[in-house]
Amino acid sequence: MSGYLTTDSKKITTQSFREMKQRGEKITMLTAYDFTMAAIVDSSGVDCILVGDSASNVMAGNEDTLPITVDEMIYHARSVKRAVKRALVICDMPFGSYQISREEALRNAIKIMKETGVDAVKVEGGADILDTVKVLIAAGIPVCGHLGLTPQSIHKFGGYGLRAKDEPEADQLLADALALDAAGCFAIVLEKVPARLAAKVTKAVSCATIGIGAGCETDGQVLVSADMLGMTNGFRPRFLRLYADLLTVIRNAVNCYSEDVKRSAFPSKDESY
Ligand code: KIV
Repeated sequence: MSGYLTTDSKKITTQSFREMKQRGEKITMLTAYDFTMAAIVDSSGVDCILVGDSASNVMAGNEDTLPITVDEMIYHARSVKRAVKRALVICDMPFGSYQISREEALRNAIKIMKETGVDAVKVEGGADILDTVKVLIAAGIPVCGHLGLTPQSIHKFGGYGLRAKDEPEADQLLADALALDAAGCFAIVLEKVPARLAAKVTKAVSCATIGIGAGCETDGQVLVSADMLGMTNGFRPRFLRLYADLLTVIRNAVNCYSEDVKRSAFPSKDESY
Protein backbone atom coordinates (compact mmCIF):
# COMPACT_ATOMS: atom_id res chain seq x y z
CA MET A 1 0.00 0.00 0.00
CA SER A 2 1.34 3.45 -0.76
CA GLY A 3 0.15 7.04 -0.35
CA TYR A 4 -0.87 9.28 2.51
CA LEU A 5 -1.97 6.46 4.79
CA THR A 6 0.95 4.20 3.99
CA THR A 7 1.90 1.73 6.68
CA ASP A 8 4.50 -0.10 4.62
CA SER A 9 7.73 0.33 6.52
CA LYS A 10 9.55 -1.48 3.71
CA LYS A 11 8.88 1.31 1.21
CA ILE A 12 12.21 2.78 0.18
CA THR A 13 12.52 6.51 0.83
CA THR A 14 15.27 9.03 0.24
CA GLN A 15 16.09 8.59 3.94
CA SER A 16 16.60 4.86 3.30
CA PHE A 17 19.39 5.79 0.87
CA ARG A 18 21.30 7.59 3.62
CA GLU A 19 20.72 4.72 6.05
CA MET A 20 21.86 2.14 3.50
CA LYS A 21 25.01 4.15 2.85
CA GLN A 22 25.68 4.38 6.58
CA ARG A 23 25.38 0.65 7.11
CA GLY A 24 27.34 -0.15 3.94
CA GLU A 25 24.42 -1.81 2.17
CA LYS A 26 24.65 -1.41 -1.59
CA ILE A 27 21.76 0.32 -3.35
CA THR A 28 20.31 -1.22 -6.52
CA MET A 29 18.79 0.97 -9.21
CA LEU A 30 17.42 0.11 -12.66
CA THR A 31 15.52 2.11 -15.23
CA ALA A 32 11.91 1.48 -16.23
CA TYR A 33 9.60 3.52 -18.39
CA ASP A 34 6.35 1.56 -18.41
CA PHE A 35 3.94 -0.23 -16.07
CA THR A 36 4.77 -3.81 -17.06
CA MET A 37 8.55 -3.53 -16.72
CA ALA A 38 8.24 -1.44 -13.54
CA ALA A 39 6.03 -4.12 -11.93
CA ILE A 40 8.60 -6.83 -12.76
CA VAL A 41 11.57 -4.77 -11.59
CA ASP A 42 9.85 -3.63 -8.38
CA SER A 43 8.63 -7.10 -7.45
CA SER A 44 12.16 -8.42 -8.03
CA GLY A 45 13.26 -6.26 -5.11
CA VAL A 46 15.29 -3.48 -6.69
CA ASP A 47 15.66 -0.51 -4.33
CA CYS A 48 15.11 2.27 -6.83
CA ILE A 49 13.54 2.70 -10.24
CA LEU A 50 14.80 5.52 -12.40
CA VAL A 51 12.43 6.83 -15.03
CA GLY A 52 15.43 8.00 -17.00
CA ASP A 53 15.40 10.34 -19.94
CA SER A 54 17.13 7.41 -21.66
CA ALA A 55 13.48 6.69 -22.51
CA SER A 56 14.25 9.05 -25.37
CA ASN A 57 16.64 6.44 -26.82
CA VAL A 58 15.14 3.20 -25.53
CA MET A 59 11.43 3.91 -25.97
CA ALA A 60 11.31 6.55 -28.69
CA GLY A 61 14.37 5.58 -30.77
CA ASN A 62 15.99 9.02 -30.66
CA GLU A 63 19.78 9.27 -31.01
CA ASP A 64 20.16 11.08 -27.70
CA THR A 65 18.20 12.19 -24.65
CA LEU A 66 17.65 15.77 -25.76
CA PRO A 67 14.30 15.52 -27.58
CA ILE A 68 12.18 14.04 -24.77
CA THR A 69 9.72 16.50 -23.22
CA VAL A 70 8.33 17.09 -19.73
CA ASP A 71 4.94 15.71 -20.78
CA GLU A 72 6.53 12.58 -22.26
CA MET A 73 8.52 12.02 -19.06
CA ILE A 74 5.31 12.49 -17.08
CA TYR A 75 3.57 9.84 -19.20
CA HIS A 76 6.37 7.34 -18.50
CA ALA A 77 6.75 8.22 -14.82
CA ARG A 78 3.02 7.98 -14.16
CA SER A 79 2.89 4.53 -15.78
CA VAL A 80 5.85 3.38 -13.67
CA LYS A 81 4.49 4.82 -10.44
CA ARG A 82 1.20 2.93 -10.85
CA ALA A 83 3.13 -0.35 -10.76
CA VAL A 84 5.56 0.29 -7.93
CA LYS A 85 4.93 -0.77 -4.34
CA ARG A 86 8.37 -0.74 -2.74
CA ALA A 87 11.09 0.95 -4.78
CA LEU A 88 11.92 4.65 -4.62
CA VAL A 89 10.93 6.18 -7.96
CA ILE A 90 13.02 8.97 -9.45
CA CYS A 91 12.06 10.87 -12.61
CA ASP A 92 14.65 12.60 -14.76
CA MET A 93 13.98 16.24 -15.51
CA PRO A 94 14.48 16.38 -19.27
CA PHE A 95 16.78 18.71 -21.18
CA GLY A 96 15.43 22.26 -21.26
CA SER A 97 13.12 21.84 -18.29
CA TYR A 98 15.48 23.22 -15.63
CA GLN A 99 18.21 25.18 -17.45
CA ILE A 100 16.30 28.32 -18.47
CA SER A 101 15.54 29.77 -15.04
CA ARG A 102 15.12 28.65 -11.44
CA GLU A 103 11.45 29.60 -11.63
CA GLU A 104 10.84 27.45 -14.69
CA ALA A 105 12.79 24.58 -13.14
CA LEU A 106 10.63 24.75 -10.03
CA ARG A 107 7.44 24.93 -12.09
CA ASN A 108 8.47 21.85 -14.09
CA ALA A 109 9.63 19.90 -11.03
CA ILE A 110 6.33 20.63 -9.24
CA LYS A 111 4.41 19.56 -12.37
CA ILE A 112 6.35 16.28 -12.47
CA MET A 113 5.81 15.61 -8.76
CA LYS A 114 2.09 16.50 -8.89
CA GLU A 115 1.21 14.66 -12.08
CA THR A 116 3.24 11.47 -11.52
CA GLY A 117 3.53 10.88 -7.78
CA VAL A 118 7.23 10.03 -8.07
CA ASP A 119 9.43 10.36 -4.99
CA ALA A 120 12.20 12.53 -6.43
CA VAL A 121 13.67 14.16 -9.53
CA LYS A 122 17.14 13.90 -11.07
CA VAL A 123 19.03 16.72 -12.75
CA GLU A 124 22.38 16.76 -14.53
CA GLY A 125 25.15 19.16 -13.55
CA GLY A 126 27.10 20.60 -10.63
CA ALA A 127 28.06 24.18 -9.76
CA ASP A 128 26.28 25.43 -12.88
CA ILE A 129 22.85 24.33 -11.58
CA LEU A 130 23.45 24.56 -7.84
CA ASP A 131 21.04 27.46 -7.26
CA THR A 132 18.34 25.54 -9.10
CA VAL A 133 18.97 22.43 -7.00
CA LYS A 134 18.65 24.55 -3.83
CA VAL A 135 15.33 26.03 -4.99
CA LEU A 136 13.88 22.55 -5.69
CA ILE A 137 15.04 21.17 -2.34
CA ALA A 138 13.72 24.25 -0.51
CA ALA A 139 10.32 23.49 -2.08
CA GLY A 140 10.45 20.01 -0.55
CA ILE A 141 11.40 18.13 -3.71
CA PRO A 142 14.11 15.49 -3.17
CA VAL A 143 16.86 15.87 -5.77
CA CYS A 144 19.31 13.32 -7.13
CA GLY A 145 22.34 14.86 -8.87
CA HIS A 146 24.14 13.44 -11.91
CA LEU A 147 27.82 14.10 -12.66
CA GLY A 148 30.48 12.81 -15.05
CA LEU A 149 29.07 11.81 -18.40
CA THR A 150 25.85 13.80 -18.41
CA PRO A 151 24.09 12.80 -21.64
CA GLN A 152 22.11 16.04 -21.90
CA SER A 153 25.48 17.77 -22.55
CA ILE A 154 26.56 15.29 -25.21
CA HIS A 155 27.01 17.99 -27.86
CA LYS A 156 29.33 19.90 -25.53
CA PHE A 157 31.40 16.76 -24.83
CA GLY A 158 31.35 15.56 -28.44
CA GLY A 159 30.98 11.88 -27.50
CA TYR A 160 30.14 9.30 -24.85
CA GLY A 161 33.74 8.70 -23.69
CA LEU A 162 35.07 8.50 -20.13
CA ARG A 163 34.85 11.82 -18.22
CA ALA A 164 37.13 13.37 -15.59
CA LYS A 165 40.26 11.54 -16.76
CA ASP A 166 42.46 14.57 -16.17
CA GLU A 167 43.09 16.29 -12.86
CA PRO A 168 41.27 19.59 -13.45
CA GLU A 169 38.05 17.83 -14.51
CA ALA A 170 38.37 15.32 -11.66
CA ASP A 171 38.87 18.17 -9.16
CA GLN A 172 35.86 19.98 -10.60
CA LEU A 173 33.74 16.83 -10.33
CA LEU A 174 34.71 16.36 -6.68
CA ALA A 175 33.91 20.03 -5.96
CA ASP A 176 30.55 19.65 -7.75
CA ALA A 177 29.71 16.52 -5.75
CA LEU A 178 30.56 18.26 -2.47
CA ALA A 179 28.41 21.24 -3.46
CA LEU A 180 25.42 19.04 -4.42
CA ASP A 181 25.83 17.13 -1.15
CA ALA A 182 25.94 20.35 0.88
CA ALA A 183 22.88 21.64 -1.00
CA GLY A 184 20.94 18.60 0.25
CA CYS A 185 20.87 16.12 -2.66
CA PHE A 186 20.02 12.67 -1.31
CA ALA A 187 22.02 10.91 -4.02
CA ILE A 188 24.34 11.57 -6.93
CA VAL A 189 24.66 9.43 -10.05
CA LEU A 190 28.28 9.17 -11.22
CA GLU A 191 28.40 8.15 -14.86
CA LYS A 192 31.45 6.90 -16.74
CA VAL A 193 34.23 8.26 -14.54
CA PRO A 194 37.40 6.52 -13.30
CA ALA A 195 36.69 4.05 -10.47
CA ARG A 196 39.27 5.74 -8.22
CA LEU A 197 37.61 9.12 -8.55
CA ALA A 198 34.15 7.62 -7.88
CA ALA A 199 35.53 5.95 -4.74
CA LYS A 200 37.03 9.27 -3.58
CA VAL A 201 33.75 11.11 -4.16
CA THR A 202 31.82 8.36 -2.36
CA LYS A 203 34.02 8.77 0.73
CA ALA A 204 33.81 12.57 0.60
CA VAL A 205 30.02 12.99 0.44
CA SER A 206 27.35 12.10 2.99
CA CYS A 207 24.72 11.36 0.35
CA ALA A 208 24.64 8.09 -1.60
CA THR A 209 26.58 7.77 -4.85
CA ILE A 210 25.13 5.56 -7.58
CA GLY A 211 27.58 4.50 -10.26
CA ILE A 212 27.23 3.54 -13.89
CA GLY A 213 30.62 2.85 -15.42
CA ALA A 214 32.17 4.18 -12.20
CA GLY A 215 33.62 1.05 -10.58
CA CYS A 216 32.32 -0.92 -7.62
CA GLU A 217 33.10 1.43 -4.73
CA THR A 218 30.08 3.66 -5.16
CA ASP A 219 27.19 3.20 -2.72
CA GLY A 220 25.02 1.70 -5.43
CA GLN A 221 24.80 0.82 -9.10
CA VAL A 222 22.40 1.71 -11.89
CA LEU A 223 21.95 0.20 -15.35
CA VAL A 224 19.45 0.71 -18.12
CA SER A 225 17.16 -2.34 -17.87
CA ALA A 226 16.95 -2.92 -21.61
CA ASP A 227 20.76 -2.96 -21.79
CA MET A 228 21.38 -5.40 -18.93
CA LEU A 229 18.59 -7.65 -20.19
CA GLY A 230 20.28 -7.84 -23.58
CA MET A 231 17.48 -6.17 -25.51
CA THR A 232 19.54 -3.38 -27.09
CA ASN A 233 21.18 -4.86 -30.16
CA GLY A 234 24.92 -4.17 -30.40
CA PHE A 235 25.18 -1.78 -27.41
CA ARG A 236 28.10 -3.28 -25.47
CA PRO A 237 30.03 -0.67 -23.48
CA ARG A 238 32.67 -2.04 -21.12
CA PHE A 239 30.67 -1.15 -18.00
CA LEU A 240 27.64 -3.19 -19.09
CA ARG A 241 27.13 -6.72 -17.78
CA LEU A 242 24.51 -8.76 -19.63
CA TYR A 243 22.23 -10.60 -17.20
CA ALA A 244 20.00 -12.06 -19.91
CA ASP A 245 19.73 -12.40 -23.67
CA LEU A 246 16.16 -11.26 -24.13
CA LEU A 247 16.79 -10.29 -27.72
CA THR A 248 17.27 -13.98 -28.57
CA VAL A 249 14.45 -15.11 -26.27
CA ILE A 250 11.98 -12.62 -27.82
CA ARG A 251 13.09 -13.32 -31.40
CA ASN A 252 12.72 -17.07 -30.87
CA ALA A 253 9.27 -16.62 -29.36
CA VAL A 254 8.17 -14.32 -32.21
CA ASN A 255 9.54 -16.80 -34.80
CA CYS A 256 7.67 -19.69 -33.17
CA TYR A 257 4.46 -17.65 -33.06
CA SER A 258 4.80 -16.65 -36.72
CA GLU A 259 5.49 -20.23 -37.80
CA ASP A 260 2.50 -21.49 -35.82
CA VAL A 261 0.18 -18.88 -37.37
CA LYS A 262 1.49 -19.52 -40.91
CA ARG A 263 0.86 -23.27 -40.63
CA SER A 264 -2.49 -22.80 -38.87
CA ALA A 265 -1.15 -24.44 -35.70
CA PHE A 266 -2.25 -21.49 -33.58
CA PRO A 267 -4.81 -21.18 -32.13
CA SER A 268 -5.62 -24.82 -31.34
CA LYS A 269 -9.09 -26.11 -30.48
CA ASP A 270 -8.31 -25.62 -26.79
CA GLU A 271 -7.37 -22.03 -27.46
CA SER A 272 -10.59 -21.33 -29.32
CA TYR A 273 -14.16 -20.63 -28.11
O1 KIV B 1 18.51 8.33 -18.21
C1 KIV B 1 19.10 7.39 -17.66
O2 KIV B 1 18.80 6.21 -17.88
C2 KIV B 1 20.17 7.72 -16.72
C3 KIV B 1 21.00 6.58 -16.23
C4 KIV B 1 21.89 6.07 -17.29
C5 KIV B 1 21.76 6.96 -15.02
O3 KIV B 1 20.36 8.85 -16.40
